[in-house]
Amino acid sequence: MTDMTPLRLGIAGLGTVGAGVVKIIRQKANLLASRTGRPVVITAVSARSRDKDRGVNLADYAWEDDPVALATRDDVDVFVELMGGDEGPAKDATEAAIAAGKDVVTANKALLAHHGHALAQSAEAAGRVIRFEAAVAGGIPVVKSLTEGLAGNDIDRVMGVMNGTCNYILTRMESAGLPYDEVFKEANQLGYLEADPNLDVGGIDAGHKLALLAAIAYGTRVDFDAVELEGIGSITIDDIKHAADMGYKIKLLGVAQLTGRGLEQRMTPCLVPATSPLGQLEGGTNMVVIEGDQVGQIVLRGAGAGEGPTASAVMSDVIDIARGTRISTFGKPAVELEDSRAARTSAPAPYYLRMMLDDKPGALAKIATVLGEAGISIDRMRQYDHAGGTAPVLIVTHKTTREALDSAISGFEATKILADGPVAIRIEAVS
Ligand SMILES: NC(=O)c1ccc[n+]([C@@H]2O[C@H](COP(=O)([O-])OP(=O)(O)OC[C@H]3O[C@@H](n4cnc5c(N)ncnc54)[C@H](OP(=O)(O)O)[C@@H]3O)[C@@H](O)[C@H]2O)c1
Repeated sequence: MTDMTPLRLGIAGLGTVGAGVVKIIRQKANLLASRTGRPVVITAVSARSRDKDRGVNLADYAWEDDPVALATRDDVDVFVELMGGDEGPAKDATEAAIAAGKDVVTANKALLAHHGHALAQSAEAAGRVIRFEAAVAGGIPVVKSLTEGLAGNDIDRVMGVMNGTCNYILTRMESAGLPYDEVFKEANQLGYLEADPNLDVGGIDAGHKLALLAAIAYGTRVDFDAVELEGIGSITIDDIKHAADMGYKIKLLGVAQLTGRGLEQRMTPCLVPATSPLGQLEGGTNMVVIEGDQVGQIVLRGAGAGEGPTASAVMSDVIDIARGTRISTFGKPAVELEDSRAARTSAPAPYYLRMMLDDKPGALAKIATVLGEAGISIDRMRQYDHAGGTAPVLIVTHKTTREALDSAISGFEATKILADGPVAIRIEAVS
């Protein structure tokens, strides 16, 4: 028999995402009821300011100033956390909701990257679920893809461009031929950057998302501290042009893979082939590439942020709960999630090296010698026109380790033949 009991939501946070969720529930009540078999209703809401016009009618809902009070109301079945922040009200109210026997839907990657394991354990011990589709790559259903659609696979690798602002900056630098600082300012004026821009351009926001995907893909406890993080602030327009000359694009790329060395999690600038789907990704769009042992490669592409796409992902979780679909937070019971066994070294890869060589006889030969002594062989090398006694040199190495590369970089310093650099960027093998 169909359960016609309404599913009652308490929504904390009525900003971009929260207002979007309220709109969907108001506009699509019949569709939601027919798809889930029961009404989905909002009983109470919370935000900081009660008076703000949010472009949506809130008169039908009870108001709570305190998100903890909202999360523990008797007439709330699901606490929908759309405030943000890894501590403070988001954490307090989520914990209170679980303790009060509520299911939780959240879009908060920071909260889960830092406290996901503890929250999952307490929710599952209480027989509740925490769902977070909107926390990773906005509207792209990547959590669902990993936990459900691809659950029959061992996952070989998960990769993603998951911060639209960084991809906007990198692709705009290339298309307009502008330096990083100018495009950064432009992005700020357009409102693309978080209040703390380092969350975006420092790779932290995307690193949170990668840590969540890695936990699902490999059945490990979320280990954000083990994510190797490097932002895009040191990428120059020259690097972008030189990479393009050699058939590559530079992306802030997240990669998670489990090898004999342990779990690798990297959110760093990488070169990818310009012809690959990741290489062709322009502007603020997100892309997640999943490689499974049975399915091969899956490419998911779409809006990683914004009211509609993010609210769409929140609704997917709400709809699952309304239908009675109950999946462990990270795809398997939290008590069975293993330690991440973080890899201390990353898998060998080819690298792009850019350096400014003092234009003296024998300088190029010295570069080759230093690389050879570090056990690194050269795949391709290019020297550009001299300017003021220095010449830019680009090298693409064959596969090598980061340790060998660091040893070569120390070797370059000792030879004193470089006027600047070297800059080293990993080349990720993707098709
Ligand atoms: N925006 C996106 O495209 C996007 C995409 C994916 C995930 N997310 C995640 O979704 C969450 C919400 O993001 P957003 O962009 O919607 O943020 P936002 O526009 O800044 O909205 C945040 C909301 O939380 C409320 N709030 C903040 N502190 C509060 C407190 N102490 N008590 C009660 N309410 C409080 C704010 O109230 P006032 O309105 O009264 O100030 C506001 O309504 C974050 O975790 C974010 O990372 C966002």
